[in-house]
Amino acid sequence: MAKATTKILISEIKNHSGKVVEINGWIYNLRSSGKIAFWQIRDGSGFVQAVISADSLDAAKWQQAERATQESSVKIIGTVSQHPRGDVYEIAVQDFSFYQLAGEYPIGNKDHGIDFLLDQRHLWLRSPKQWAIARIRNTLILATYKFFQKNNFVKIDTPILTPIAGENTTELFAVRYFDDQAYLAQTGQLYLEAALAAHGRVFDFGPTFRAEKSKTRRHLTEFWMMDAELAFIDLKDNLKWQEKLIKFMLKSVLESNLEELKILERDVAPLKTALAKKFYRLTHKQAVKKLRELGSDIAKDADLGGDDETLLTKHFDAPIFVLNYPAKIKAFYMKRNIKHPELAECADLLASEGYGEIIGGSQREDDYETLKQRIIEFGLKPEDYDWYLDLRKYGSVPHGGFGFGLERIVAWVCGLEHVREAIAFPRTIYRLKP
Ligand code: 4AD
Ligand code: MG
Repeated sequence: MAKATTKILISEIKNHSGKVVEINGWIYNLRSSGKIAFWQIRDGSGFVQAVISADSLDAAKWQQAERATQESSVKIIGTVSQHPRGDVYEIAVQDFSFYQLAGEYPIGNKDHGIDFLLDQRHLWLRSPKQWAIARIRNTLILATYKFFQKNNFVKIDTPILTPIAGENTTELFAVRYFDDQAYLAQTGQLYLEAALAAHGRVFDFGPTFRAEKSKTRRHLTEFWMMDAELAFIDLKDNLKWQEKLIKFMLKSVLESNLEELKILERDVAPLKTALAKKFYRLTHKQAVKKLRELGSDIAKDADLGGDDETLLTKHFDAPIFVLNYPAKIKAFYMKRNIKHPELAECADLLASEGYGEIIGGSQREDDYETLKQRIIEFGLKPEDYDWYLDLRKYGSVPHGGFGFGLERIVAWVCGLEHVREAIAFPRTIYRLKP
């Protein structure tokens, strides 16, 4: 191997034009014609073409080069040159060695079915589109932390093993907990409400679990949720915070991930529109009226179905808050609307372009007796929620919060058909492997 040269990431290549560098990565595509071979190299930070010419290698090395296969891992040493037309660089290989010569790679350029690709998810993660999705997800996570940091929120790590339902009892995963039964957390919200009285503004961000039997493009059984909770706010304030956060996240992706969005062939115009516009605010009643005009047969008191969300959000050019759903179809902890007690003081945020719900949020019931009554009405046992009720005994305050599903946001921002590609190893009703 040639003597040590600067070891660089492909993303740094433009700073090394004309120089000899070392790059370590994988060959994701290759072709050769006669005495010249082209390897498309990726190293996680980016992509670059390496040119291997028989004339500049000794015969044994060239023979080795001819054995290269897709996904072989390599070290390459060569000179960086800038393409005469623009911001594209390539590397003229002087020397190389294989870490490992890959066997015949199962994923090729042909159209594989989705089930095959999901079975090969451990390998599929390497393809440029999946790479781009993971990087955008990463930006969205970092933006979330940044946003809360700069707004004086404290991150609380809420438990995953819980003794009670956080949302509803129909979608709980039960696990044996020694001689008892525990459930995997559906949300960290109730625990956040406890931490709220210590910190005023709090958030959590972690895996949540729902035994969803639905096989829609929006549902996973394990997904990442961020819950935020704020003291001394009302629903109006709550929606402002949500809008600010989502816009901050969108802006971060548009600033950091244009290359990734291009790989995904994502039209960024609708994202820019969402960023520029004030999000729409419709009451549930107005949403139902609009939906009926658009051809839905949704009932007056019903939750919006998946198709309704698609229909409504395709009709508007920016995300929509749907406020004040009938209380009986929402969670037990939601405060009621003062003027219309049959309605919950809540809102869902629906992403544009057919994507639908990305956030659920509400004002929380902060009165002890009322909350206890609700717990009973919803068929739950007040003694299971004694600690949660305590929070209404010792310095109860008006408060509210919201929770987003990360994969739903990733799917929207990346323009994906299904949330299963928005997480590295999706868990759905039919899939627990790899
Ligand atoms: O609307 P949800 O059920 O609200 C809560 O859990 C509240 N405790 C949040 C809060 O107020 N702190 O869930 C929140 C979000 C949904 O809007 C959706 O984006 C996502 O979580 N979500 C799912 N994502 C993927 N697969 C599923 N099965 C999901 N269920 C909910
Ligand atoms: Mg919801």
